Amino acid sequence: MSKITAQQLRTKYLEFFKSKGHTVIPSASLVPENDSSVLFTTAGMHPLVPYLLGQQHPGGKRVTNVQKCIRTGDIDEVGDNTHLTFFEMLGNWSFGDYFKKEAISWSFEFLTSKDGLNLPLERLAFSVFAGDQDAPRDEEAAGIWKSLGVKEERIAYLPKEDNWWIAGNTGPCGPDTEMFYWIDDGTPAPANFQETKEDKRWVEIWNDVFMQFEKQPDGKLVPLKQQNVDTGMGLDRTLAVLNGQKSVYDTEIFKPLFDVLSLGQEVMSNDEIRKARIILDHIRASVFIVADGVEPSNKDRGYVLRRLLRRSMVYGKLLNLQNHWLKALIGQVMAIYGDAYPGIVRDSNRIFEVIEAEQKKFGLTLEKGLKQLESRIKNQESGGLTGKEAFDLYQSFGFPWELTKEMAEAIGQKINKEEFETEFKKHQELSRTASAGQFKGGLGGNSEKIVKYHTATHLMNAALRQVLGEHVWQKGSNITEERTRFDFTHPQKMTEEEKLSVEALVNGWISQDLQVKKDIMPIEEARKLNAIGVFGEKYSDTVSVYTIADTNTGEVVSRELCGGPHVEHTGVIGKFKIQKEEASSAGIRRIKATIE
Ligand code: GLY
Repeated sequence: MSKITAQQLRTKYLEFFKSKGHTVIPSASLVPENDSSVLFTTAGMHPLVPYLLGQQHPGGKRVTNVQKCIRTGDIDEVGDNTHLTFFEMLGNWSFGDYFKKEAISWSFEFLTSKDGLNLPLERLAFSVFAGDQDAPRDEEAAGIWKSLGVKEERIAYLPKEDNWWIAGNTGPCGPDTEMFYWIDDGTPAPANFQETKEDKRWVEIWNDVFMQFEKQPDGKLVPLKQQNVDTGMGLDRTLAVLNGQKSVYDTEIFKPLFDVLSLGQEVMSNDEIRKARIILDHIRASVFIVADGVEPSNKDRGYVLRRLLRRSMVYGKLLNLQNHWLKALIGQVMAIYGDAYPGIVRDSNRIFEVIEAEQKKFGLTLEKGLKQLESRIKNQESGGLTGKEAFDLYQSFGFPWELTKEMAEAIGQKINKEEFETEFKKHQELSRTASAGQFKGGLGGNSEKIVKYHTATHLMNAALRQVLGEHVWQKGSNITEERTRFDFTHPQKMTEEEKLSVEALVNGWISQDLQVKKDIMPIEEARKLNAIGVFGEKYSDTVSVYTIADTNTGEVVSRELCGGPHVEHTGVIGKFKIQKEEASSAGIRRIKATIE
């Protein structure tokens, strides 16, 4: 039995600050409304920045809230005892109203009083800002703690890295004081905090930030026109601490989520537990992100969501979870949070739909990618998967590269990261050139499209040669994120019927999910195989040849000399359509075609 539940903690906190004159305000969306500088609300402060800068808040100068937040900066740490991508932040705020004295006194009262958390003072410790050129040593904060009964040796003076708070690089900021709880029931808390603060049994549960500055883009600190207070208490972590649990994943929030996976936690290895925790964390975060209107995509927020979902699906696969685990897990997240966040229940149908659609989309790819990965690894005589191979998986299957790395590591293989990055850069440059400056970054998400266009263009070339005849030769091509443009030799305008036939052939090959294979071979061999493409001095003695073929029948659909990159299976390309066919110059036709 938990000593305190999540809902009790939320209520206790909000009620306490209500009794101190604060207005309870609802959590803002995870998608920042007026701030394009961040993808997600990463701290309680984000939605309140205008009020820290002086705007009037409708709730007055004192507000309190529980704010949903997403932080993915530490995604690789998720699954240990403390890291999460989604969390709730309890906070109380002063917009130019009270300052250090009240903030610290109320923190003390909430931590130690019977109506608050009733924590023994012997197990609490505090840190304050040590001072530097920007702000003085915070004797004032330390003095207030001491006036409340805190012993001098339980106060540590720490530098900016520890006791200065800012969300991101610019904006409101200031020194803070932090509150720590000694979590070890069996050992008394050490008397001196400054000397023992590195001990993991001291866990930070709350901070009071004294926001008095605004950091400018040039790094300068400009005093704000008012002094604010921003406090932050992470709900999951505090819940674990209060209930004597070692990990945030042991709380009453995560226990029922764990149970849904039916994995028998007691017999799982640490590594399996970590994988399961990643799934729980990511699906919980995804439910909230979708609830706030984001859908998976290859850009920005959508990409973060896609990565969270795909990552959990890979781990689901590695843990051998059965079919309906995802649905069950989403349902359980809704059951746990439905009371506190009715929106996720109201919108449950859409949330299920969006997440399950991504599961479906990724499912096939995942199966194939894992097979591909396994077979490559089996073929390794020694060493690990090459960075190039890892990159191919990224490119062909849309596996976020972190996943390939993790999957390889899960079976004891290391990937050469440098090599991967070299390939990634090469690919980016290529995409940049190909898209004539239209490449917009986005973790390579955009360039996936270009790669698909490359392969679609080979298919189109093959189809044109089948439909119009072998006089068709490529004269040029240009690929952007939006279309492929292809110039080829042909004496007259294509008929409607010819265009439809080309489309049908290409789409047929796409739906057959043909394999695309790259071989490096001597030029002579490429000629013998009737590979098409430019045999010129720009190639060396060996050439790289891409073959698109049906592995069951052995039928070769296309074989072209080409440097790549290409997808590995045509199934990922999408629907092919000719948008325009026109004259380019005498005897040369031009097609613009799209894939969706
Ligand atoms: N109160 C600042 C934060 O931890 O979000």
